[in-house]
Amino acid sequence: MQLATGHEHWSSRLAFLMATVGSAVGLGNIWRFPYSAGMNGGGAYVLIYIAAVLLVATPILITELMLGRRGQMSPPSSMGKLATEIKASRKWKGLGYAGLFTALCILSFYSVIGGWALAYIPALGSGVLAGAPADKITGVFTDLVSNPWTLLFWHSLFILVTVLISLRGIRGGIEKAVNILMPMLFLMLVIMVAYAAAAGNFAAAVDFLFTPDFSKITGAVVLDALGQAFFSIGAGMAILMAYGSYLNRNVHIPRASLVVAGADTLVALLAGFAIFPIVFANGLAPNSGPGLVFQTLPLAFAQMPGGIVFGTLFFILLSSAAITSSISLLEPIVQWVDETFPIPRKIAAIISGFLTWALGLMTILSFNLLADFHPLGMFDRFASKTFFDLIDAFTNNLMLPFGALLMSIFAGWLMNKTITSEELGLATNQLWFRSWRFLIRYVAPFVLSIIFLTNIF
Ligand code: TRP
Repeated sequence: MQLATGHEHWSSRLAFLMATVGSAVGLGNIWRFPYSAGMNGGGAYVLIYIAAVLLVATPILITELMLGRRGQMSPPSSMGKLATEIKASRKWKGLGYAGLFTALCILSFYSVIGGWALAYIPALGSGVLAGAPADKITGVFTDLVSNPWTLLFWHSLFILVTVLISLRGIRGGIEKAVNILMPMLFLMLVIMVAYAAAAGNFAAAVDFLFTPDFSKITGAVVLDALGQAFFSIGAGMAILMAYGSYLNRNVHIPRASLVVAGADTLVALLAGFAIFPIVFANGLAPNSGPGLVFQTLPLAFAQMPGGIVFGTLFFILLSSAAITSSISLLEPIVQWVDETFPIPRKIAAIISGFLTWALGLMTILSFNLLADFHPLGMFDRFASKTFFDLIDAFTNNLMLPFGALLMSIFAGWLMNKTITSEELGLATNQLWFRSWRFLIRYVAPFVLSIIFLTNIF
């Protein structure tokens, strides 16, 4: 059904849900969440993470989809339209532009890591690592990241797949891809958890993820958990407004958002249960950082019975999850380019893909030729950060929470509640509506401001 705005809409509620769960579930859940939990001490971080999802990220997700559906256009145009509707400043368009810019930044490094996942499919699948000594296995990672040309190849392949799906449009591209990849992903995840339970130390993993040690909580841990919540749900910077703009009026946004947030959190925990039992059973360290999945985990796979088969499956899982997310990061950019210039969507997708690809080169070089280049080296706290470290921290810890703060002000304080309640399909006196509005008006701005202030000073 094409509405008056002329762009495509999701063919059904289920299609929208699959695409949005696909967007949420990605490297954030399977790569980032486990290593971040590992580095931040486990249980206490997980609790804060879950609280951040429930109290801040989910209400923002609801808000973002709502703004997108009401706007029916790309994030900047939608924000402009909504601002006009409520007689607020047209400067709110800036939030949409910031969203496009943030999506571009995230996708530029997302695709490099997605490329690592792709590279590991043949690395493990070829079987040469079976029973190999530890230095040979960790050497795969070092060889991969130290060679800019290899990284360039996998990064380019990842962007190419993303663009090839995206240029076919919402129904012909995104829906078709998620219809295949999402069921496959859940199946693979269940198989991986079963394997980890059978071959690993499950009890140690449960203990690590669920026994909180509150002495481990610091400001930095809270900030990481909050940034992780936004990144994992994919909310905070008007990026998902694009998916919301393709939404039909009959979909109940709050209910759909709870499904998305619930599925996303479940997958993050399941990923933890697929990874940590294997890590602990093999006496490996949970706090090895971004290399956890790529360096630590393969050490275990190489030694375990069936490890090569399940290891290969794991990286197919990781790659598919990454692709269903990368198409959602590219979408607002494609939508905006398509809307702004008189060119077909195909060309818009190619241009957007090219821009992200080019920016990704900086991330590639951060692991090798520019590994000692610290762009903000003059500031103490950034002294050792590479370009990749900075763009990751800039998007997660700064842009996503900042966008969330602006959206909560826009929807909670500037939009009138007759409009929001109508758009959300909730009556103004209903508990659900009042809770959402309370979280958006008070809790989110309060939490986000505190986080900013403590982080800046
Ligand atoms: N949520 C995805 C993940 O966990 C990444 C992602 C997709 C994202 N779309 C987003 C992050 C929009 C921020 C904003 O891997």
